[in-house]
Amino acid sequence: MKKVFIIVVGLLMPVLSWGAETTYPNDKIEIDWDDKASMQRGARTFVNYCMSCHSAKYSRYNRVGQDLEISDSLLLDNLIFTTDKNGNKTKVGELMTIAMTPDYAERAFGVVPPDLSLIARSRGVNWLYNYLRGFYVDETRPLGMNNGVFDKVAMPHVLVDLQGYQEVKTIMQPDGQGGEHEVIVGFELVKPGSQSKSEYDQTVHDLVAFLDYLAEPYKQTRQNVGTGVIIFLFILLILTYFLKKEYWKDIH
Ligand code: HEC
Repeated sequence: MKKVFIIVVGLLMPVLSWGAETTYPNDKIEIDWDDKASMQRGARTFVNYCMSCHSAKYSRYNRVGQDLEISDSLLLDNLIFTTDKNGNKTKVGELMTIAMTPDYAERAFGVVPPDLSLIARSRGVNWLYNYLRGFYVDETRPLGMNNGVFDKVAMPHVLVDLQGYQEVKTIMQPDGQGGEHEVIVGFELVKPGSQSKSEYDQTVHDLVAFLDYLAEPYKQTRQNVGTGVIIFLFILLILTYFLKKEYWKDIH
């Protein structure tokens, strides 16, 4: 019985994995932790385009403000758009939660958009960078869009006004089992958005830099402490060396 099951699964494999392979685009980025301006721009994009569906409920607005050098009044005017249950504007000390309930989200999208506080750690910055640049037109999907690195994604392409619409270029490649499968090798912009390609890449880079900060707000402090400790140990090494010389002076 078990054998039959394995054979059936084996035979179904090529069918199950049918569809465009989800690996394109596959670019890499470096996040510059000293580039506060980039993270600030990313924060602005995040609250404007992502927080209608995704929360970042492990962060407080004013902590983000402190770390990214944004004053409380700027936070209130430019980054906080949510209100509490009574309709009062969210205060700077509050958590970055959202009003959309999981029930509602489930009904609207079929899946609950996950909290993005730790997404840069679970997915990695390169994956995020490619994901947010990887939406393409696919009429077979309910929302008319698919994604090169997240096949059949339920998220709409919320940045489409900036990026524009792109179509995929695919080729057929042997799948190693005697058949062929479709592999994405590139995109073609069919309807430009409000940003050029390089501007859009920068917007996404900034956004991912912000998500990277969000996932590990202590990273910078930790790096600074690390450097301090190394310098301290180095000075200690020199002092100990001279101390050793001093102690052994009369013995030799
Ligand atoms: C209209 C609602 C909506 C908005 C706005 C939205 N998303 Fe999503 N997002 C979703 C849904 C729904 C999913 C789940 C997709 C799935 O599992 O198929 C998702 C999934 C994701 C994922 C993948 C999570 C994972 O690892 O499974 C990331 C990353 C993400 N969104 C980032 C963003 C970013 C960044 C923005 C802002 C530019 C954004 N989203 C805006 C609805 C939204």
